[in-house]
Amino acid sequence: MSTTVGRVDPCRLIDLPDHSDDRGGLTVVEGGRDVPFEIRRVYYIHGVPDGAARGAHGHRRLRQLIVALHGAFDVVVDDGHASARFRLDSPGRGLYVGPMIWRDMVDFTPDAVGLWLVSELYDPADYYRDYAEFRRDARAL
Ligand code: TYD
Repeated sequence: MSTTVGRVDPCRLIDLPDHSDDRGGLTVVEGGRDVPFEIRRVYYIHGVPDGAARGAHGHRRLRQLIVALHGAFDVVVDDGHASARFRLDSPGRGLYVGPMIWRDMVDFTPDAVGLWLVSELYDPADYYRDYAEFRRDARAL
């Protein structure tokens, strides 16, 4: 499996600063410090039915960190040349996904809650929804 997916800025797992103590867990993400972008939007995905898949899109500019706050799911990333599959199953570690990456989220456990920290406000024009179009542009980079 390739671990260097992403020709603009490679995808990678990031261990997040942990301040857990005997009162419980506390994990921090600071924009521009723990992730290589300023955080402009946050959303979360939960209650994903068994067998459902999410994602199936790419972004032109957007960067993001994906964290499984609870439960687990897989993120498959694809830069038009190579792909890799990451299992996210810890609130202490996130997957950084840079621009020009196609992603699919699959194999959600029933209790999964995923957090997305992203660099841009929602903009449909930033999306690739067609894989062939994405792949053509990604391979032209
Ligand atoms: P979608 O892109 O299908 O989610 P996924 O990350 O699983 O691919 O988004 C589902 C719907 O939610 C779609 O109609 C767009 C809308 N949406 C917003 O309005 N704002 C957002 O920030 C996001 C992520 C989605």
